[in-house]
Amino acid sequence: MRVQVCIIGGGPSGLLLSQLLHLKGVETVVLERQSREYVLGRIRAGVLEHGFADLMREARCGERMDREGEIHHGFFIAHDGVLDRVDLAKHSGGNSVVVYGQTEVTRDLYAGRDRMGGKVVHNAEDVAPHDVNSDSPFVTYRAGDDIVRIDCDYVVGADGFHGVSRKSIPKDVLKEYERLYPFGWLGVLSRTRPVSPELIYCKNERGFALCSLRSQALSRYYIQVPLTDRVEDWPDDKFWAELKRRLPETTARDLITGPSIEKSIAPLRSFVAEPMRYGRLFLAGDAAHIVPPTGARGLNSAASDIYYLYHALIAHYERRDDSGLDAYSQKALARVWKAQRFSWWLTMLLHRFPDHSPYENRLQATELEYLFSSDSALDSLAENYVGLPF
Ligand code: APR
Ligand code: PHB
Repeated sequence: MRVQVCIIGGGPSGLLLSQLLHLKGVETVVLERQSREYVLGRIRAGVLEHGFADLMREARCGERMDREGEIHHGFFIAHDGVLDRVDLAKHSGGNSVVVYGQTEVTRDLYAGRDRMGGKVVHNAEDVAPHDVNSDSPFVTYRAGDDIVRIDCDYVVGADGFHGVSRKSIPKDVLKEYERLYPFGWLGVLSRTRPVSPELIYCKNERGFALCSLRSQALSRYYIQVPLTDRVEDWPDDKFWAELKRRLPETTARDLITGPSIEKSIAPLRSFVAEPMRYGRLFLAGDAAHIVPPTGARGLNSAASDIYYLYHALIAHYERRDDSGLDAYSQKALARVWKAQRFSWWLTMLLHRFPDHSPYENRLQATELEYLFSSDSALDSLAENYVGLPF
């Protein structure tokens, strides 16, 4: 089998690229290790930058997002018992974000692939890229007892942090940067009316908390927990009681609780792999970089990779212009590191660090005080939250 671009990984990055390239007549195949149900079963964040929302519309997969997603022009930071609002519209020149679950984004992209008859192979085992440092790369995978070979011009590694693509880049070429945080996020999904029409990020001496939503009937809440905690340690009533302790009194009073329909703990990690290109192999999304969920940059950062790669591949196929492909790694990393900085900054601002000295705790409190006393600080926060230009 031969295609122009072989994409490893059927998550949002791989599907979005496949859809955009197909609309421009570039032939792709997506190889996904898991079943579609498994991929759609993952609960992830849900704040989309306006640039990403535009890319979904360009991919002709934005219709449901625009119908069911919520446009948010601000969010709150709760601290010291008060709620301070970050007016995104005022501080970002009128911009906003779309609150719409990543699971729904992925579902819409699969629907887009189906509508166009896109090739997505599920349960593709032992996927392996070959000769990516030559002019004729190929990818193999196992389908039952058969080994299938796909010849292609380019291979895109959109197979997430635990994928095979990054690992296929020689160790003497790849440089990895990492920061681990001494805590995780315990997340709960519940069929309850959200406590607030806009998101609330809470800084509390007991630890961070976040009140988010998927719709006016589906809420998503998170609390910071030690990495040693397990989901079994947190029955629903204990979760709700702890969340209430971390919210300002008025918000806690309004909180509607209910049975959790999903509950999981995610560790917090910052990670970047460089370069994002090795010969004819291009890394995109979680395959090359991870951010802590605090700033909801993960999906948006993946989308900016896809934006650069999509335009670079179109320039190659339409005009034989390889300048975009040659600049891809540097361009994508420049924006990735800004998302890394913003996610790290927001994580340092809002979480409780058990090993912080009293001096560091005062600095953290002062950072928050400065934020709400300075329009330029709020401008910086808002422009990063709504999404820096591509
Ligand atoms: N072969 C084929 N597919 C693979 C392999 C492999 N060896 N390894 C992993 N995959 C698949 C995974 O099953 C997953 O569906 O690659 C896909 C990668 O998808 P994601 O992890 O969602 O990564 P990405 O598409 O880059 O999306 C980034 O996901 O984790 C969130 O916060 C992150 O929001 C960000 C978004
Ligand atoms: C979420 O809705 O899951 C969410 C929202 C904002 C974040 C992180 C997660 O910063």
